Amino acid sequence: MKLIRAKDYNDMSRKAANVVSATVILRPNCVLGLATGSTPVGMYKQLIAWYEKGDLDFKAVKSINLDEYVGLDAYNDQGYRYFMNENLFNHVNIDKSNTSVPNGMAADVEQECRRYDKHIADLGGVDLQVLGIGNNGHIGFNEPDEAFEQQTHLVDLAQKTIDANSRFFASIDDVPKQAITMGIKSIMQAKAIILLASGEGKADIMETALFGPITPKVPASILQLHPNLTVVADEAALQVVAQKHPELF
Ligand code: PGA
Repeated sequence: MKLIRAKDYNDMSRKAANVVSATVILRPNCVLGLATGSTPVGMYKQLIAWYEKGDLDFKAVKSINLDEYVGLDAYNDQGYRYFMNENLFNHVNIDKSNTSVPNGMAADVEQECRRYDKHIADLGGVDLQVLGIGNNGHIGFNEPDEAFEQQTHLVDLAQKTIDANSRFFASIDDVPKQAITMGIKSIMQAKAIILLASGEGKADIMETALFGPITPKVPASILQLHPNLTVVADEAALQVVAQKHPELF
């Protein structure tokens, strides 16, 4: 694991954008695994700024998103397809037909999951997977469970996730209760992974995930086994890691 310490959210965003842009520059037709949520928004803003300056070209880039709520269509402003269009795709020269988000409106969810896995395989896998971390240790929407789910699958969202994500919805009753998420296998098969975290709300789970036992009860703990994991986190998110592992600092 490579640990990149950032001062604050803006610094984390810029450092993370540097890692993504290095991938795009070195491999213009790369497959990026992308994440939603509050954490990567600043990183996307920075990538857009560098695109506008002429430093980045997304013309041949392909992308695969981690997850989508069940029951929200591409035009729903709480959906993750909408999020990606608003926060990145509409502002750079990526070809939208090269971007993928699970279809939360699929009539046959199981078939949609199999289609998504096949699509990832057909693209040759993910070159760089961007991840956030839930305060319960989820990655994508792989929630704490008795076993690691390997394939893209339907999940019942954990109450902690519903509570955390209710901030984006008019009321907690509007938060979807299910989602489609890429599984642990596709995430772990990415050639490189960058895990982002910001703020003291993530401080405990960052220590548990990166230094605790590897268990499906903390899905992000599996990342300890990835051969090419880069963690980009700010001081607030790393405060418990710093207390318990001062030798790293
Ligand atoms: P956040 O979500 O970036 O909004 O904190 C992270 C996650 O749930 O993966």
